Amino acid sequence: MGHGIRRRSIETALATAEQLQAADSYPYFPVIKEPIGNRVLLDNGTSLLVFGSCDYLGLSQDTRVKEAAAAAVAHFGTNTYGAQIFNGYTSLHRDLEHRLAAVLGKESALLFPSGMHANIGAIASMMQPGDVIINDRLNHGSIFMGCRLSQANIRTYRHNDMGRLRSILRQTQGAARVLIAVDGLFSADGDYAQLPTICALAEEFDALVLVDEAHSFGVIGPEGRGVVAHFGVEDRVDVITGTVSKAVGSVGGFVAGSTELIEGLRHMAPAYLLSRGSPPSAVAASLASLAILDLEGDALRHGLWSNVKLARDALARGELHLIEGESHLLAVPIGSDEDTVGIARRLTSKGVLTTAMIAPGAPSGKGRLRLTVTARHRQSEIEDGISLLAEAVANG
Ligand SMILES: Cc1ncc(COP(=O)(O)O)c(C=O)c1O
Repeated sequence: MGHGIRRRSIETALATAEQLQAADSYPYFPVIKEPIGNRVLLDNGTSLLVFGSCDYLGLSQDTRVKEAAAAAVAHFGTNTYGAQIFNGYTSLHRDLEHRLAAVLGKESALLFPSGMHANIGAIASMMQPGDVIINDRLNHGSIFMGCRLSQANIRTYRHNDMGRLRSILRQTQGAARVLIAVDGLFSADGDYAQLPTICALAEEFDALVLVDEAHSFGVIGPEGRGVVAHFGVEDRVDVITGTVSKAVGSVGGFVAGSTELIEGLRHMAPAYLLSRGSPPSAVAASLASLAILDLEGDALRHGLWSNVKLARDALARGELHLIEGESHLLAVPIGSDEDTVGIARRLTSKGVLTTAMIAPGAPSGKGRLRLTVTARHRQSEIEDGISLLAEAVANG
């Protein structure tokens, strides 16, 4: 979700929530009592078809992944003894770090409790006052949080505007160090960062490049190695961050890069050192998922892309325009925040759960409904869900 660097006060956020609640159109925080296939049963008795899941390959529900998590609980207990540096690091954590580094083609990797921690930890620790960090405006909020904490100078360019990136690079040539940070796959629009151009510009202006593979790891590129691998720029990207909380079906985040960077972060990044780290069950689940992806990744991704095609065809039949994008994240532009939330709410009343992205998660006044199909959806679910969406938009 892109959040720019605009801050909302608690009062503003609360006022918006209260307004939506008063109008009986508050679509957030559905309380799930039980997952049933691709549906969830809420505690108010409503059953919803989930079209907003980031569990793109369905691995969080795979029996082998659940069993690996349960076995880790049986072996290690529900948590470790303390902070990772003293007594919270297990052989599972070490194995997952090695595995992630190997998959991503980097020397080393560091495991964080979440993707949010990973971005904050990497960026806030790598960069400092006097440096410049250049962001795509639709970067995830955790990248911007890391930028703020670093106290570096933050510059932002319009989404994927490579001309603007070049001119900012030209203006910042006197800075101590410059980092270009981007989401590999932008969650708001479902399109890719233009990594070949970004890497070429970084080389021309001697800047570093960080790519967040949160939505792409496991799904995009050869063997699901992400957008960096899709563009074949592994050697030209300095740092890769990401999450195992989406396609990998577990919880946790990572930073991958040179051994010097990773060992430096391991010994000084507050987001790593001052947090407990992932519980062994989550790490074991990630390892089990990565093992499944080794054997069955191509088949799972094939299932996902077939479903994405079914969804795109159904959206076209329903005359629903999509924001241009190449990925499994399907963004239907709606417009005002009120209309976006209203349509999401109407869809919920028809039994379909989507993601209503409004400011600051999307540019102001450009709300969109994000649909995510997964490898597990059935054709009938996709067709029924999208025809209900078309109806809700037409009546909007
Ligand atoms: C691009 C991006 N980066 C980072 C994150 C944070 O990941 P996590 O949920 O593991 O904290 C997200 C989560 O939505 C994301 O979309």
